[in-house]
Amino acid sequence: MHEERTRVAIVGAGPAGMLLAHLLDREGVESVVVETRSEEYVASRIRAGILEQSTVDLLREVGLGDRLVREGEEHRGIHLQWTAPGQPAGHGERHHLDFVELTGRAVWVYGQTEVQKDLVVAARARGQAVHYEVDDTALHDLDTDSPSVTFTKDGEQHRLRADVVAGCDGSFGPSRSAVPEPRAWERTYPYSWLGILADVAPSTDELIYAWHPEGFALHSMRSHTVSRFYLQVPNDTSLDDWPDDRIWEGLARRFALDGWTLETGPITDRSVLPMRSFVQAPMRSPEGQGRLFLAGDAAHIVPPTGAKGLNLAVADVALLARALVAWLREGDVSLADAYADTAVRRVWRCTHFSWWMTTMLHATGDPFDEQLQLSQLRWVTSSEAGATGLAENYAGLPIGF
Ligand code: DHB
Repeated sequence: MHEERTRVAIVGAGPAGMLLAHLLDREGVESVVVETRSEEYVASRIRAGILEQSTVDLLREVGLGDRLVREGEEHRGIHLQWTAPGQPAGHGERHHLDFVELTGRAVWVYGQTEVQKDLVVAARARGQAVHYEVDDTALHDLDTDSPSVTFTKDGEQHRLRADVVAGCDGSFGPSRSAVPEPRAWERTYPYSWLGILADVAPSTDELIYAWHPEGFALHSMRSHTVSRFYLQVPNDTSLDDWPDDRIWEGLARRFALDGWTLETGPITDRSVLPMRSFVQAPMRSPEGQGRLFLAGDAAHIVPPTGAKGLNLAVADVALLARALVAWLREGDVSLADAYADTAVRRVWRCTHFSWWMTTMLHATGDPFDEQLQLSQLRWVTSSEAGATGLAENYAGLPIGF
């Protein structure tokens, strides 16, 4: 058995775990990260591409913002569009919401994949200990002051002892299930997203969220030459049923607006994404005094509408880093004791917002739902109060909210 000792054992080398390691290192708190996947696998997972202002501010403050500022793109807001049932194609309405005007805060287009690359480069530069491709990860003694994480690597057994374990290992990792008798809340949705990346310049300056009787569509982007699109599809959709022509025709119908053209190009990636809302509490275990702290997808999942997943993970980690630094460097446990309650309050705000955006924009086939959705869309695009509510949540509440 190889024995290793650190202050914080971080389970998961995705953006939550790697950002936590980065923030702790800046304050002189040592950590070791363990990850079941390879570095290449983690870095290549395609995720959403929208960063809230507070996420961007934090990344810049801690030295992770150089490429983001150079290559990312600041957006003032989004377009919301609808074509009501029976309305002729192209005769719907498209409205721009200006978040900067409404809230003073913008959003940034910069892929999660890029954030992850920047985190890995920074980790290498400071010599961060990361064990990739480990198996049989297990958490131990979380109710004592000497918790540990065991794993096997290249056939050898390891034990990593620490003061604290941070569970940043997503829905399928061992941290979530190490919480005894958790409380959990869940909502499933009767639709999924078909997502594509295409080598084509975006046909829009800022993102378009489109309601259509046939189903929701989203026009996003990754750069001046790469566009990202999503189409609402039934659950259990097979990619085999969606040849390129069907995808482009579906997108063109759902985004149709007189005088506007959707440019098409080679599709370089395609996948079907399930939609789910999930919250597990407590985010500290055993509740109250335990040594395991959950952050990011290990504690909660949001459906993608509104692109909150990464931003919420960053907010968790910002709070957790502050709490662990105060505890491990100064012996002040007050922020650590407050973490679970403070973090979960923001989690529920984002859970509500993601559910609300999702249910406002997706076709259910129910005529009553349709009328409620159209009424809601008219309200958020015509009333300053309605627009500000959406803008405040989308552009993101302050980290400490
Ligand atoms: C993206 C994904 C989202 O869910 C969203 O609301 C906005 C953008 C994206 O992948 O670019």
